[in-house]
Amino acid sequence: MPAKVLFTFFGASGDLAKRKLYPALFRLYKSGHLAENFAVIGTARRPWTKEYFEEVVIDSLGDLPDNPRQAAEFASHFYYQSHDVNDTEHYQALKKLQDELAAKYYTENNKIFFLSMAPKFFGIIAKHLKSEQIIDGQGFERLIIEKPFGTDLATAEQLNQDLAEAFDEDQIYRIDHYLGKEMVQNIFAVRFANPIFEQMWSNQYIDNVQITFAESIGVEERAGYYDTSGALKDMVQNHALQLLSILAMDKPEDFNEHAIRKEKIKVFESLRHQSDDELKQNFVRGQYSAGRINRKDYVGYLDEPNVAENSQTETFAAGTFFVDTERFKDVPFFFRTGKRMTEKGTRVNIIFKPTKNIFGQDFDQNVLTIYIQPTEGFSLHINGKQVGTDFTVTPVDLKFRHSAQASANSPEAYEKLMFDALNGDSTNFSHWREVSASWSLIDRIVQLWQNGEVPLHTYPAGSMGPQASFDMLAKFDTQWHWHPDEWYREHGLLD
Ligand code: BG6
Repeated sequence: MPAKVLFTFFGASGDLAKRKLYPALFRLYKSGHLAENFAVIGTARRPWTKEYFEEVVIDSLGDLPDNPRQAAEFASHFYYQSHDVNDTEHYQALKKLQDELAAKYYTENNKIFFLSMAPKFFGIIAKHLKSEQIIDGQGFERLIIEKPFGTDLATAEQLNQDLAEAFDEDQIYRIDHYLGKEMVQNIFAVRFANPIFEQMWSNQYIDNVQITFAESIGVEERAGYYDTSGALKDMVQNHALQLLSILAMDKPEDFNEHAIRKEKIKVFESLRHQSDDELKQNFVRGQYSAGRINRKDYVGYLDEPNVAENSQTETFAAGTFFVDTERFKDVPFFFRTGKRMTEKGTRVNIIFKPTKNIFGQDFDQNVLTIYIQPTEGFSLHINGKQVGTDFTVTPVDLKFRHSAQASANSPEAYEKLMFDALNGDSTNFSHWREVSASWSLIDRIVQLWQNGEVPLHTYPAGSMGPQASFDMLAKFDTQWHWHPDEWYREHGLLD
């Protein structure tokens, strides 16, 4: 059944709306999840007309539509209202337009609001949505918001209070776009549909877990934001910890929102409260310097446009979390993330403990790799016997990577998340208790870094991060399993 709903986007002229949201809605339209009974109100400061807004929307769809008529029909559901978030009269006009469109499109007063603008405006918007009765208790009323959800625990709490003026927790959908990714969802299947992994998913068999979010791009045009954020807040507080929670959770009683949430929250609230000294040892920060890869030179972070002189912002972070549940007590969960690393790749390596060695020769630990992007799939690193008269144990990789065809059909993260929000399913969104637990921990690391108690290392553009990140694993008698830089070095593409 196609949904009946009116969307209101605050920040409709922004980059995110054009790059992600309109194409995501279009995909839902094309697959029949949205049909006649939906409309979109776009608001932003600019004085656009409906016609112009439609053009912007059509433009954002690229080659997704089958033909221009289909694109035009979709865009005809879009309405624009120039809006000053501080002006009460504008909300009154919005209410009027909302009522007209609800009647015209028979949306049964269902509403989804999407805030894709600076968090400092959330409070004032929420307050007006309530006071001007745009939120009127009729139909379903849901709010989707983008990260960053605060810049520390205190601002996140403030934001939460602001939103609470108009919405209850179960109406709030905090986006973490990693949760919409096909292979992140696939972790549930790998863990809970395969007894071989399910039985072994604990500290009894798992030695350590390694999560890598490598990006080859630099800070691009986003220095204005990024320089005040850094890798820890940009990637770890949200994406890395969300992924970790899915990897570390206990088996939910059922595959539903309530049961999954419960187990995820348990992980967040069991993150080990490491001492300051441990945090100094177990978390590493770095910033990229100039480098050369693939025969191309890249400038260092400090020479990127709009980066503050002598900026101490980290473009790389690595660290070690522990989850003090019975299942995972004392298993290190390592993560690393950075800009201008060797190549783009998000993957998880589950390193299994070695078995008693009866062969008198060294062999590799078993490793399950979950490839999240850019290719999607799994591999299992096991050991076999080399062909021959000798008995030599040799590594063998069992691999499954999604074909390009399957990937092309993977629902794009925002499409999946919009679809979930339409269905009132908030499993793949961040709950407030998850957000607050992660800020509590991240704030302490930020504090130590800001006090200069942990060195800011540099790493050349094109590398896999500073030496300190490798040393961190060495202290736990292990090493990063994925090292794409070796291939580039062997091929003379990296010094
Ligand atoms: C965003 C960060 O949340 O995630 C960006 O703000 C980062 O800095 C991006 O580039 C990475 O997402 P993806 O889906 O490209 O891996």
